Amino acid sequence: MAVLSSTHPGTREERSLREDGAYPRWAKILHMGLVLAVTFELYNSLAALWFANFQWFPLHVATGIFLTFWLVLCWAFYLGTLWGRALLWSWFFPAHLPAIIRDLRALFLGRLPAAGPVPGLSSLWQGVFFLGVSFVTFTGFAAWLVLEGYISWPGATHLGLHAMRLGTPLLAYLWFGHVFMAFFHALRRQPLWGIFAFWRGA
Ligand code: HEM
Repeated sequence: MAVLSSTHPGTREERSLREDGAYPRWAKILHMGLVLAVTFELYNSLAALWFANFQWFPLHVATGIFLTFWLVLCWAFYLGTLWGRALLWSWFFPAHLPAIIRDLRALFLGRLPAAGPVPGLSSLWQGVFFLGVSFVTFTGFAAWLVLEGYISWPGATHLGLHAMRLGTPLLAYLWFGHVFMAFFHALRRQPLWGIFAFWRGA
């Protein structure tokens, strides 16, 4: 399977993302926090939902509060910096549909699309995963605030508990696809693990 080099010239934001290559240090730290908190929350929830294993579930709310705080930080950095806005743009700009179709077509032809923060299938996957995690976490947090009597918000408990119950398997599938493809890209010798090297970079 060959690795596609980026074939389209792209817009200014796209070129700057590609040329900068490395992630800024803050983006690596935010990603690391997401990796740890989302993975724990997700697989702890799956253990409870599917296997009735509640061994680690007492940590669910504490991790959930940390994840809520971390996601607020992520959204603040992504919206508040040029680099972050370019990342959101690569995830959510609807006109990227042709890049996604191009990547899908390449995959079916046995070629691995480019990874990294550029428009395409991998960015769409990350964007949907990030939105899904945000929705489940924020509604779960709202449900917890209501259950604890901190706020009164009719319907929030219902919404939060359902989002968490239904969201858990969906997020697990997205997690699995994201991690599996990261390993697959790495096997194809793409320098992907730089995202974890937060001692390097600006
Ligand atoms: C990725 C994020 C999250 C996932 C995947 C998740 C998953 C789950 C699951 C599967 C349940 C069981 C639902 C049921 O039995 O109907 C649950 C319950 C619960 N979650 Fe979450 N959750 C997340 C985030 C949060 C957050 C941020 C909070 C609050 C800070 C939270 C607080 C709770 C509470 C209070 C319950 C009810 C526990 C009980 O029934 O005693 N969760 N969650």
